[in-house]
Amino acid sequence: MFITLEGMEGSGKSTQIEMLIPVLEQKGYACLATREPGATTIGKKIREMLLDSSNSTIIPLTELLLYEADRAQHVHEVITPALEAGSIVISDRFFDATVVYQGYARGFDMEFIETIHNRVLADLRPQLTIILDLAVEVGLERAWKRITGKTEGLQEDRFEKESLAFHEKVREGYLTLAKREPERFRIVDASKDPKGVHQEILDIVLNALSG
Ligand code: TMP
Repeated sequence: MFITLEGMEGSGKSTQIEMLIPVLEQKGYACLATREPGATTIGKKIREMLLDSSNSTIIPLTELLLYEADRAQHVHEVITPALEAGSIVISDRFFDATVVYQGYARGFDMEFIETIHNRVLADLRPQLTIILDLAVEVGLERAWKRITGKTEGLQEDRFEKESLAFHEKVREGYLTLAKREPERFRIVDASKDPKGVHQEILDIVLNALSG
């Protein structure tokens, strides 16, 4: 089964995946946690290009194509082999992030995005997508705490520097996708404490696995 977690910066996706994987493994499921961008050797280099705020001259087309290049490599090297080996794959972001960030928020042509996805993903789509939904101000405050507390490595803050209006479009974009495809999406209130969010996600995932 292929599961994705989506949501704005600071919504707690990576913390939740870290909490979820050991519980699923304890229950006997083989799991692989992965993420976009940056799950492969090439992807890590692409991630640096995408998230470094000193790359402020990047144009929307370059940004879109870099996310898709990362994804093409990710699907080929990581996701498809793991699914073929029978693992549950849980990805911190996937193609919905492009629809939302580059499509809804940046205003990129949705038809073009869909055409690229048909080529990059072929038939691969997540069976379950969980959106960690959160007020934009709360998410950004959490994200900036993490960024300013980081003492090593690159400051990955290019998107956090976007306006509140941009992040509102991201939130609205995710909620719109969830309305359009209610059978795939589940929305979880990410303002609750991490343990409560974890329990809700676990129930959703176990329910999907038993179905
Ligand atoms: P994250 O690892 O903190 O989620 O950072 C990834 C950033 O990249 C986040 O700000 C959202 C953005 N992003 C896009 O704009 N489009 C995409 O397709 C993906 C996967 C991420």
